[in-house]
Amino acid sequence: GSWCHRKPMTKPLRCLLTAGPTREHLDPVRFLSNGSSGRMGYALAEAAVARGWEVDLVSGPVAIKAAVGVTVHRVVSAQEMFAACEPLFARCDLFIAVAAVADFRPKAMEVHKTKKAEAALVLELEPTVDILKTLAARKTAAQRVVGFAAETRDVELYARRKLTEKNLDWIVANDVGRAGIGMEAVDNAVIVIGRSGERAVFGPAPKRAVAEFILDKIAWR
Ligand code: CTP
Ligand code: CA
Repeated sequence: GSWCHRKPMTKPLRCLLTAGPTREHLDPVRFLSNGSSGRMGYALAEAAVARGWEVDLVSGPVAIKAAVGVTVHRVVSAQEMFAACEPLFARCDLFIAVAAVADFRPKAMEVHKTKKAEAALVLELEPTVDILKTLAARKTAAQRVVGFAAETRDVELYARRKLTEKNLDWIVANDVGRAGIGMEAVDNAVIVIGRSGERAVFGPAPKRAVAEFILDKIAWR
């Protein structure tokens, strides 16, 4: 583990994290979103700060507080999350994308609340920007990029596919279909997979313990 362990001694490692869900508004009061609590990303931010790293956390709307020392950037939509991450990515050493970014957004956002009598019953959607894939494509030789894969079936297969397709160094696969584990849960169970074939499993355990495990593993190289 030369990379993560040597660097903090000279100057702290700069770590960028995304966490929580995004909200894609249809109108001022309605949105598409998901049940991500933000806990896994916030636990990673806490663990990273405890290691003396400089941590920027770009977070969608969540009900939890970040650890002291974490710089939080609050956003709502995927587009805002991307805009906040772009300049921070350029100067980070490590990017960990934990956010449950909405994959689609309504094609149009109404300025006023839609009246039910006037609502179209079919919602037209368009894809959101893939923040992780877009930023990983800009990765320099010195930067490391880690993604999460939330799956309910064929967990490892899909995770490995994302590792390759998004040009990542590591992917953290988590089975969100299992009761008491993953997105909305307090505990998590993960498989950490590296681009050179490394593989390690951990949990179910509290998300802070999972966070420590992940940071230890990605410090392998
Ligand atoms: N991600 C992202 N921007 C998006 C979608 C996903 O940055 N618009 C990131 C997530 O933060 C996560 C990784 O990509 O680190 C994988 O997210 P996931 O939803 O599992 O995969 P997708 O590529 O969106 O594919 P699918 O939802 O079809 O499985
Ligand atoms: Ca997705």
